[in-house]
Order: sequence, then C-alpha cells, then structure tokens
Amino acid sequence: MALNRRLEGKVAIVTGASNGMGAAEAKLLASEGARVVACDIQSAPGEEVVSEILAEGGEAEYVHCDVTSEKEWESVVEGTVSRYGALHVLVNNAGISSTSVEDNLSTESWEDIMNINATGVFLGTKTTAEVMKEQGSGSIVNISSIMGFVGGEYGHPAYHASKGAVRIFSKAMAVKYGPYGVRVNTVHPGFMPPMTSSNHPTSGSRARYVEQTPLRRTGEVIEVAYGVLFLASDEASFVTGTELVIDGGYIAQ
Ligand SMILES: NC(=O)c1ccc[n+]([C@@H]2O[C@H](COP(=O)([O-])OP(=O)(O)OC[C@H]3O[C@@H](n4cnc5c(N)ncnc54)[C@H](O)[C@@H]3O)[C@@H](O)[C@H]2O)c1
Repeated sequence: MALNRRLEGKVAIVTGASNGMGAAEAKLLASEGARVVACDIQSAPGEEVVSEILAEGGEAEYVHCDVTSEKEWESVVEGTVSRYGALHVLVNNAGISSTSVEDNLSTESWEDIMNINATGVFLGTKTTAEVMKEQGSGSIVNISSIMGFVGGEYGHPAYHASKGAVRIFSKAMAVKYGPYGVRVNTVHPGFMPPMTSSNHPTSGSRARYVEQTPLRRTGEVIEVAYGVLFLASDEASFVTGTELVIDGGYIAQ
C-alpha cells in the first residue's frame, strides 16, 4: 500500500476498469485510499481487478456499466451515492480505438467510436457533475488522447474526432461547474499497450512511432494513472479545464 493515501476518504468511479489503463487507475486510486467503484462491460476481468485491490487491503466493488447507456449511468451514480454517501471522483476512461482498418470511414464505425468515446464521457460527466454540484466539490478526469489534439496516420478518423470532443466538452463543463467547486480536466496519453498492441489498426507502425517520440519508447499505463491520481486529488484543487499530456514528448514537436 502507498504511504501517503492521497485520496483518503474519497469515493471514485472508474470506467473501463477491467483492463489496461482503467485497471491501473482503479488500483492506484484504491492504494491511495479511495473507495473505488470499478465499472466496465467485461465482468470477469473487472472482478479480478477488484480482488487484487481487496487483497492489497483496499476497498472496491465491480459494477456493470455500459457507458453508452444513460439508464446505467443513473443507476451506477445513484447506487454509489446511496452506498457510500458521496461521490468525489469520476474517471471517464472507457474507450475503443477502432473496429477494423477496412472500416475506416464507415458510418457504423464512426457511430460505434463516437458513442463509446464521446457520448459515454458526456453521459458520465453530466450525471456525476450534478451530484458533485449538490455536494459543492468533485473532480472529473476525462481520458482523451494525443489524438484529441492532432490528426495523423496512427488513428481512426472517428477516434481523433471523439477524443477532440472529449477535450473541448471537458473545458465547457469545467467552466459551467467551476462555480460549484467541481473540477473537470483531461488526460492525453500517447500510445501504450494494451490498446496499441491489441486492437489498434496501425500497431505495425509502432517502431516508427517510438522513433518519433523524444523519450524513444511507448508509455506504461501506470504513468497515466499517476497523472489521473494528481488531477483526482486535492493537490490539484486549483486545476480545472486543463490538459495533461502524457506522451513522452510526441506532440511537443
Ligand atoms: N492505450 C493507448 O495507446 C491509449 C492512448 C491514448 C488514449 N487511450 C485511451 O485510454 C483509455 C483506455 O485505453 P486502454 O488502452 O486501457 O484500452 P483497453 O482496450 O485495454 O481497455 C478499455 C476498457 O474499456 C471497456 N469498455 C469498452 N467499451 C465500453 C463500454 N461501452 N462501457 C464500459 N466499458 C467499456 C473495455 O471493456 C475495456 O475494459 C481509452 O479511452 C483510450 O482511448 C489509450
């Protein structure tokens, strides 16, 4: 367990918590004292993440939530508040990169990606922000991507669009909810496993990407989780509407 317990007493929902970055974020937030509600559509790995947290002495539960469903969002948020009495942190992490390369400009793949990556973040943020407004405090961390800043050869066009939507939507919500003590920020990871290795359409070009990255490697999910932890914590109490890029310097050039 971490020594500082930077989220002691906080209640946090993390979406897409069954795998990859979301699992790393759920575990790190729990190790820092948060009671974590780990949400996903894949229950078995989600339950596994929760077991690991409990084995480490943390507090967590797995709750099924398809982020594209407003009903499921309402149920998760209501359930969390009724069980724990508060909701301090939301990490909108769930996302997909692409269905297939051939599908690149199909309307179906546009809708799939926009639904999960953009509408999912919209629904989670709006449902949670209202609860946080009532409380007078809260931190929402939305996972965008470096592809929310630039176009390029590595991503599906709809992925870029969805992550750009997350970036600007988050700023609008930061402005709207700031007066009520609710902070909304975005995190912009560069490429890293597992999304890059499992379902990214251009994973074959990874060597070239590494060559173009100042730190000459892809990232690790824990390196993103540490950024999320900072924005979730009270250490970031005057930080809202901002963008934290964690990409080894890729978009600095
Ligand atoms: N890995 C990368 O290179 C990278 C880079 C930049 C941004 N990101 C973003 O980071 C986030 C996590 O990526 P990852 O690499 O861990 O991906 P991943 O594929 O390993 O994990 C994504 C998780 O989201 C869940 N999910 C998918 N659809 C969902 C839905 N409708 N409702 C609830 N959960 C759903 C999946 O079941 C999975 O557990 C995503 O938003 C992704 O776009 C990833």
